[in-house]
Amino acid sequence: MKFTLFEALGLLASFVAAAPPVPAKPTAVSQTSNDAHLLPRLVLYYQTTHDSVGRPISMLPLITEKHIALTHLLVCSFHINRGSNLTLNDYPPHFPLFSTMWEETKLMKEAGVKVMGMVGGAAAGSFDRDTLDGPEAAFEHYYAQLRDAITMYELEGMDIDVEQPMSQKGITRLVRRLRADFGPDFIITLAPVSTALAMGGNLSGFSYPQLENEAGKDIAFYNAQFYNGWGDLSSTAGFDSIIRQSWDPTKILAGQVTTPANGGGFVSHNRLNQTINELRAKHGEIGGIMGWEYFNSKPGDTSQPWLWAQVMTAILRPNLVPQLTITRATAEKLTRLWHYSGRPGAEISMMMGPPNVDYMAMINA
Ligand SMILES: *[C@@H]1O[C@H](CO)[C@@H](O)[C@H](O)[C@H]1NC(C)=O
Ligand SMILES: *[C@@H]1O[C@H](CO)[C@@H](O)[C@H](O)[C@H]1NC(C)=O
Ligand SMILES: *[C@@H]1O[C@H](CO)[C@@H](O)[C@H](O)[C@H]1NC(C)=O
Repeated sequence: MKFTLFEALGLLASFVAAAPPVPAKPTAVSQTSNDAHLLPRLVLYYQTTHDSVGRPISMLPLITEKHIALTHLLVCSFHINRGSNLTLNDYPPHFPLFSTMWEETKLMKEAGVKVMGMVGGAAAGSFDRDTLDGPEAAFEHYYAQLRDAITMYELEGMDIDVEQPMSQKGITRLVRRLRADFGPDFIITLAPVSTALAMGGNLSGFSYPQLENEAGKDIAFYNAQFYNGWGDLSSTAGFDSIIRQSWDPTKILAGQVTTPANGGGFVSHNRLNQTINELRAKHGEIGGIMGWEYFNSKPGDTSQPWLWAQVMTAILRPNLVPQLTITRATAEKLTRLWHYSGRPGAEISMMMGPPNVDYMAMINA
């Protein structure tokens, strides 16, 4: 969801052009979500996987630090690449640099956090006419790569972040196919810019109200991006205008950049607290809070990124902290894997030095 100049220009253009004549409103507002018991949700994207010297960034503080009640972690960004294989950011997901990360996701799941993937984002290509938005043969070819990654890494859901024009039929096909292949418990979400839910500007081309009408029962929630010029959370106005379009408030998340470094429209945590309190007073329970992204969140920045989740837990869902069990065997395995999880170029130094994450200190069973 990082923003390029090219996209900024597109954004300007869409503000000028955004006024659909016949407003479609979502009518399928029934709560069919398979994770409704996790309301209000606290959702965090995990995209930057390695620090500036190439060491993996541990996600475990999100469960080992106290007073955090994260509900969903979205590992990202998966990209479909025409003529090639699926990547997670710049590398195939099975490369050794991700081995610590995938092992850690197992612990996150054991602690009750839903671990999902996200496909798409700011880098276009995943939803082209010759990939996931293509004719049957192309769709089958590239969808199979995504399906296999979900199976391989035992992802519990998939967030579809369409930031390029995609057809209405194409998005419905993708949602329905994920549901058909992974069954009723699989969590399917989308990540529209917030204005796209309220008849304003959009990046995806298709209509979200129409998608909700066609496939809403298969969509657990929407990670609405209230940033980068697409709405904001300095007041309730943007969220209110979505609810006025008949959306179910429990399906809409207040999506926020976790630091001004990740995009425009960062709102102070005091201000955000106020907005969230007012939203819940007005609309009853809301879908929750989403943050983009983990590694550099305020107030802890890169040295203590989990502090963001502590502050959000205090705002949104205090006293709902999941439990974690780490055995000696698990801690030893993570320590071993860490040495092989350097980003290419950093492998040598990683094999020698001790991990900067003390897995052995986390043993509690
Ligand atoms: C999305 O934005 C494009 C570009 O501004 C516009 O042409 C289109 O009508 C919008 N679609 C919807 C469903 O609002
Ligand atoms: C894609 O993956 C397949 C199976 O792992 C492999 O045989 C093929 O060489 C890969 N293609 C590219 C372009 O990397
Ligand atoms: C949020 O605001 C409420 C009402 O003003 C206040 O009681 C609460 O302590 C605040 N929470 C946080 C985490 O700032």
